[in-house]
Amino acid sequence: MHGPRGLGDGRRGEGFMPLHTQVDASIQDDELDVNPVYVQELGAGIPRYRLPAHGMLPRTALQMVRDELILDGNARLNLATFVTTWMEPEAEQLMAECAAKNMIDKDEYPQTAELEQRCVNILSHLWNAPAGSQATGCSTTGSSEACMLGGMALLWRWRARRQAAGQDAARPNLVMGSNVQVCWEKFCRYWQVEPRFVPMVPGRLHLRGAEAAAKCDENTIGVVAIMGSTMDGSYEPVLEISQALDRVQTEQGHDVPIHVDGASGGFVAPFLQPELEWDFRVPRVASINASGHKYGLVYPGVGWVMWRTPDALPEDLVFKVNYLGGEMPTFALNFSRPGAQVAAQYYNFIRLGRQGYQRVQHACRDVALHLSAGIAKMGPFELLTEGRDLPVFAFKLRDDITGYSVFDVSERLRLRGWQVPAYTFPADLTDTAVMRIVVRNGFSMDLANLLLADLRKQVKVLEHHPQTQPPPEIQHMRESFKH
Ligand SMILES: Cc1ncc(COP(=O)(O)O)c(C=O)c1O
Repeated sequence: MHGPRGLGDGRRGEGFMPLHTQVDASIQDDELDVNPVYVQELGAGIPRYRLPAHGMLPRTALQMVRDELILDGNARLNLATFVTTWMEPEAEQLMAECAAKNMIDKDEYPQTAELEQRCVNILSHLWNAPAGSQATGCSTTGSSEACMLGGMALLWRWRARRQAAGQDAARPNLVMGSNVQVCWEKFCRYWQVEPRFVPMVPGRLHLRGAEAAAKCDENTIGVVAIMGSTMDGSYEPVLEISQALDRVQTEQGHDVPIHVDGASGGFVAPFLQPELEWDFRVPRVASINASGHKYGLVYPGVGWVMWRTPDALPEDLVFKVNYLGGEMPTFALNFSRPGAQVAAQYYNFIRLGRQGYQRVQHACRDVALHLSAGIAKMGPFELLTEGRDLPVFAFKLRDDITGYSVFDVSERLRLRGWQVPAYTFPADLTDTAVMRIVVRNGFSMDLANLLLADLRKQVKVLEHHPQTQPPPEIQHMRESFKH
């Protein structure tokens, strides 16, 4: 088991993502106070855990829910999440107008389906699908669903190949770095695929070609390459991994496809590193996913997945839904889901264009590089990445700093409202504790300078008042701090 997974987003094991449980009988009848200003009778309350017998006026309900939510963090000071925390008012208006549209009702909302189709085409261009390849894709709720679909297509294709050749198809495996996001572990567990993790080691914080190739055999359904790693924002070298897999094919005869998890990079690399070959320019790349709600700049939940050719997507995974008296093929884990995010993705595409996305991502990178350089100069920290791939970087305390930990630094920053996560790396670097900063649209140079000033101040405090170990019962709470 790893320690806490990267905050972006999940970790396995206990403590991850509350599955909510019925509360203890002693508090099941607890009441929520209603502010006397909102109602006419004093002392009014509503049950906290049961459906109230009667309703209330909309303004009262709105105010009560708002009051509950004030303890949530301030999204703009949240440097933990990759997910969009600001959209302009026009986009918010559009999303509100589309809130009632159900993405699956292609027949009722054909124009939403048309916008999805345009988005898929725009992305196939951005990801350099070869002309005439008929690259095929769809929107999803996010990258997790997109990865699940990408993984299923790999599994189905591998199984079909094995069965057609009369070979055993009982023990599929998937090769990836131990730095993968938790969705790949879910995929493996849910579909009973053996996960073959290449561990992280000092000096190699993500998957490289030779290590990936060494784990492949005839049961490998594919290799996952991440653009870029949730742990430190670095891009995995897709071309190098592909070349190593070419050698596997020549020497051992196994033709292993690559799925690129471009959750963040799918919307960054086309604008910041257009020369970098990580997408369908690499022939071994069978499929790519990205989160529209990360650097695609849409509020959560929209993701995208794309296959190089329609036959990379096995027919029997595709279901048909009604569409204008005909049938439209779909591939999804859900049925109903909101259409607003797809409309907002299209809005962003036409609102910003290539140049706009370039400017937004450049500005993020400038801020990331400025912040990482400032942190490197501060003294106690060492950078693991600078924010040159994704505008995301990780840093740790120098080995000789023993009076306090990154968890202390993270907690002290929180006093001012900054949410900068601290966490330990996955295998084999579970002893390395780091902090990570994700720079997103809207995090200005100004805010970056304020953060640097606060970080400097808090480090001084910690140098003068080193922290002792927290009591064991709260240790896990600090380690699991994530967005
Ligand atoms: C590399 C990577 N893959 C997949 C995901 C899951 O994405 P989503 O939150 O869109 O489901 C993330 C989220 O941070 C990620 O960083």
